[in-house]
Amino acid sequence: MRIAHMTDIHWQVRPSFGDLSPKRVLGSLNLYVRGRHSHFTEAVQGSLVQHVLELAPDAVFITGDLTAQALDTEFAKAKLALQPLLERIPTLIIPGNHDVYTFGSQRSRRMEAHFGEWMGLDAHRPVARLDVGDVTLLGLDPNRPHPVFASGIVPRDQLDGLAAILADPEMAERRIILGMHHPPVDRRGDLYDGLNHGLVNAREFVAVLEQAPVLPMAILCGHVHHGFHSQLSVGDRRVDVFDAGSSGYAFMPDSHRAACMNLYDVDDALAVERFQFDGTGFSPEPGGAYATGR
Ligand SMILES: [Fe+2]
Ligand SMILES: [Fe+2]
Repeated sequence: MRIAHMTDIHWQVRPSFGDLSPKRVLGSLNLYVRGRHSHFTEAVQGSLVQHVLELAPDAVFITGDLTAQALDTEFAKAKLALQPLLERIPTLIIPGNHDVYTFGSQRSRRMEAHFGEWMGLDAHRPVARLDVGDVTLLGLDPNRPHPVFASGIVPRDQLDGLAAILADPEMAERRIILGMHHPPVDRRGDLYDGLNHGLVNAREFVAVLEQAPVLPMAILCGHVHHGFHSQLSVGDRRVDVFDAGSSGYAFMPDSHRAACMNLYDVDDALAVERFQFDGTGFSPEPGGAYATGR
């Protein structure tokens, strides 16, 4: 079973005057005056979708930050770009903090209005779920709008829901892949629970896993735009954590930036192949997955 993992693609549309909440004024200054918007380009985003179509995986997992400011126009742009994938390949999409950038975008469930069909929540709230063959993709949503911080907290009902799924005897027969936008650990394997950008209740999340009879084979994340592979310690067990790295990054080799995506081969074990944008298209990362440090 081959699963493509993309994250932090950050489709952007310049906001209209009416869209400018106080947070978006700051966000837009950062994006359009300081120039951060040029860190993500449509050429790379289009090439990414084409590349995944060519890979023809059995499933696609997108771990959030489809947009920059959770604008209706940005979700529409993301949907249009992803449509060829969504039509052909079973896909699970979970949100990132930028997809609930403002209280209004969260209250109106704007992302669900565009992507609800692919968010795996219909029968499974509060934990997103997509079953493909003998693989179960699960997704948590630790995102919340915050005036200043980009950190996340997994709500209690999702932690309880995850505990219940992992305790289900049926799960012992399945291969579980868990996605969440915020990584629970950093690239060294230390808990990533800082208030500014981390998963604030990472310890509570680990406590749920400690009680679980079966663990996910891997945890897939994004949020930290320079990807990494590390491991989360769960008592004396270990879970691989893969942050694919931003899949929409502009090609900026001088700043050590290139868009990346992962392809997992899930069998009794899990193998990862990583692809990077090389200036013209996505190709295997030189030296193997995570060898370049990008
Ligand atoms: Fe992001
Ligand atoms: Fe993020």
